[in-house]
Amino acid sequence: MSPARSAPGCPPAADMVHATSSLLLLLLSLALLAPGHSAKKCLLTGKWINDLGSNMTIGAVNNRGEFSGTYHTAVTATSNDIKESPLYGTQNNINKKTQPTFGFTVNWKFSESTTVFTGQCFIDRNGKEVLKTMWLLRSIVDDINDDWKATRVGINVFTRLRSVKE
Ligand code: BTN
Repeated sequence: MSPARSAPGCPPAADMVHATSSLLLLLLSLALLAPGHSAKKCLLTGKWINDLGSNMTIGAVNNRGEFSGTYHTAVTATSNDIKESPLYGTQNNINKKTQPTFGFTVNWKFSESTTVFTGQCFIDRNGKEVLKTMWLLRSIVDDINDDWKATRVGINVFTRLRSVKE
């Protein structure tokens, strides 16, 4: 069989194939770099600060997605002196997703309240990690008739205090 010949004025077939595969590679690279398709993995482990000025430190995430850490809130709904408090949580899809969801509970050591946070660890458009969370703060009440006013809800956004490499 004789090799395919190009029509007069057209590039040879091999050049066309090369140009097409280069274009496909370029498009694939652009798609991977697009926001929402970042190859960088968002890691929970480390030190974080939120929009209220609260600090938290999350330890290593184990192979079941479990982690623990400490939370130092900048604000309180009580008149008590603030103390650093423990947190316990889990991350979903530890191996699959680059922007995982998670949840954790803070058992406040200076009050009888409990807060649960749930959120997602994102890589923003500047390549920075950000934790977008919502929380429920349950305060203690003496009377069951006060139950209706015992839970606050809100949003917190956390950014990394120090990079993992430091
Ligand atoms: C309390 O006041 O009883 C305990 C401290 C609650 C602090 C809340 S939890 C949700 C919000 N985000 C913070 O960083 N601090 C407040």
